[in-house]
Amino acid sequence: MTDRPLPHPPTTGGPAAVVTDLTVDRGRVRALDSVSLSVPTGAITVLLGPNGSGKSTLLNVLLGTVSPTTGSVRVLGAPVRRALRTGLVAAVPQSDALDERFPVTAAEVVMQGRRRFTGPWRRPSALDRLAVDESLDRVGLADVAGRRVGELSGGQRRRVLLARCLAQEAALLLLDEPFNGMDAGSEEVYVDVLRELAASGRTAVVSTHHLATVDRLADSVALLNGCLIAHGPVAETTTPQILSTLLGARLPDPADRPAATEGALS
Ligand SMILES: Nc1ncnc2c1ncn2[C@@H]1O[C@H](COP(=O)(O)OP(=O)(O)O)[C@@H](O)[C@H]1O
Ligand SMILES: [Mg+2]
Repeated sequence: MTDRPLPHPPTTGGPAAVVTDLTVDRGRVRALDSVSLSVPTGAITVLLGPNGSGKSTLLNVLLGTVSPTTGSVRVLGAPVRRALRTGLVAAVPQSDALDERFPVTAAEVVMQGRRRFTGPWRRPSALDRLAVDESLDRVGLADVAGRRVGELSGGQRRRVLLARCLAQEAALLLLDEPFNGMDAGSEEVYVDVLRELAASGRTAVVSTHHLATVDRLADSVALLNGCLIAHGPVAETTTPQILSTLLGARLPDPADRPAATEGALS
């Protein structure tokens, strides 16, 4: 695998995203209620909460696909739409966005991440091809570059989508439930790549309703259940007491902490 260090992204010096008093009504449902959250740059923030707790809603607000009912949101120091125009925000939605029947190869999907460099019509340069090869290599998929994504496992497809974010050289990654249905091997690679990204100054916001991997992955955890229950270091926010009281999660004995990571909040 490639061991060239990732280049540092441009940074505003402040937090990667700031959400202030955000309330979002979706139809008749209040999905988020007065949420205020600052997402630190160069770190991994995990949004942890049961199904329906507003994780996807929050990510979609950061991505501009869901509008706040009230409150304000700034991304990379700018209003959401302006931040998106920079091409520095990359996202992987909750449902696998790859159509299995579409005859597109892994390398072609990753090349989509280069659009902000090539534009929609220009042919990819040698540099773009190199970036695609390196990105696939980083997620351990160099050997399947030419394969159709429909032939890949679910975990491999998610790694392809992560490679697309890498090729985009995004400063902020918004990843919605990337570990759902992922095999252990893919998960390990995925977490390693995200940690490497954070070490290079990039920021990731990763939602999950599984406790699995939170210990290894997160710099901080934002516990959501419609409102923000807590935000802080893993050890302070994922204590069995907080989780079981506030989220109604069924947790194994605290002495079995590794086993606890198997649990899901649902
Ligand atoms: N498109 C939608 N229309 C109406 N309600 C929605 C929509 N999407 C989500 N909701 C509701 O908003 C709440 C939060 O959902 P969501 O953000 O998807 O939670 P999570 O990602 O944590 O499972 C839930 O009550 C859900 O039913
Ligand atoms: Mg969701």
